[in-house]
Amino acid sequence: MAKEKIIIDTDPGIDDAVALAIAVFSDKLDVKLITTVAGNVALEKVTSNALKLLTFWNKKIPVAQGADRPFIEKFVDASHVHGQSGLAGFDFPEPDMSLLCSEHAVNKMRDVIMAEEKITLAAIGPLTNIALLFAMYPDVKPRISRLVMMGGSLTRGNRGVMSEFNFATDPHAAKMVFDSGVPLVMADLDVGRKAGIPGPDIEKIGTFGKTGAMLYALLKKYRSGTFESGLRMYDSCALAYILKPELFTSTRVFADIELSGTLTSGCSVVDLDGFLQKKANTTVFTDVDVPAFRSWFTEALSHCD
Ligand code: RIB
Ligand code: CA
Repeated sequence: MAKEKIIIDTDPGIDDAVALAIAVFSDKLDVKLITTVAGNVALEKVTSNALKLLTFWNKKIPVAQGADRPFIEKFVDASHVHGQSGLAGFDFPEPDMSLLCSEHAVNKMRDVIMAEEKITLAAIGPLTNIALLFAMYPDVKPRISRLVMMGGSLTRGNRGVMSEFNFATDPHAAKMVFDSGVPLVMADLDVGRKAGIPGPDIEKIGTFGKTGAMLYALLKKYRSGTFESGLRMYDSCALAYILKPELFTSTRVFADIELSGTLTSGCSVVDLDGFLQKKANTTVFTDVDVPAFRSWFTEALSHCD
């Protein structure tokens, strides 16, 4: 069966690193490009981290650097969760800089997309690059089979009371994406919280060769969840939907981004009950099969070398 072609926009970040391992070693995916965006840590760090990971895995996938800040909001990172480097806990060898494209991420995404009939986009960081892509090159939209995002929340936030980090970092970009008309899937915080990966599973992953040992070293420093309560592998939920959608209960809804709420700016407003009477524009996850997700997750990482 033909591999699904995919571009991954990311802000590595420890949970991004886990999701990227799953993606680049999957026999179902053809990762055509990885683009970076300021998010968990600053742009130059997330770009270096993407290059370091691909060098560690000896994967010759092009990397293109994108936006170094949100459109309007002040950039605030998540180094308290991922460490100052963004990949705390492991000392990577120097990256292969030949993987870094000279083109801006948005221009490189357009070139890669226009060379394909159909391609999947996965966005596991703030949406600045994606919004720029749709605004600058709307001709790419018909070629995007779906944009699967890690972002948003059906309930409470992790960046603000009601706002999730990726959407809240650049809420204006997020709103442009929700207004884009591109087929959207939103892997929300709620399923990542519910399907946390417990300590014994993390310990087992640590025995999976050199990638397992590296990811284990990172996950010991990761500060979203705990070994006891379960580590939140938010970005891997987006990959899980692409690779095994039956893990999730999902529904089509209208969703939008609050921009003017004094207390709720950046919040994803997900209209599960149809109060707003607007046409559905995204698929959101309302539940996850936790045991099945956990065994999928562990299995997916068992052959990442
Ligand atoms: O809110 C979780 C998201 O923010 C994840 O993508 C994590 O890597 C951070 O980017
Ligand atoms: Ca991320």
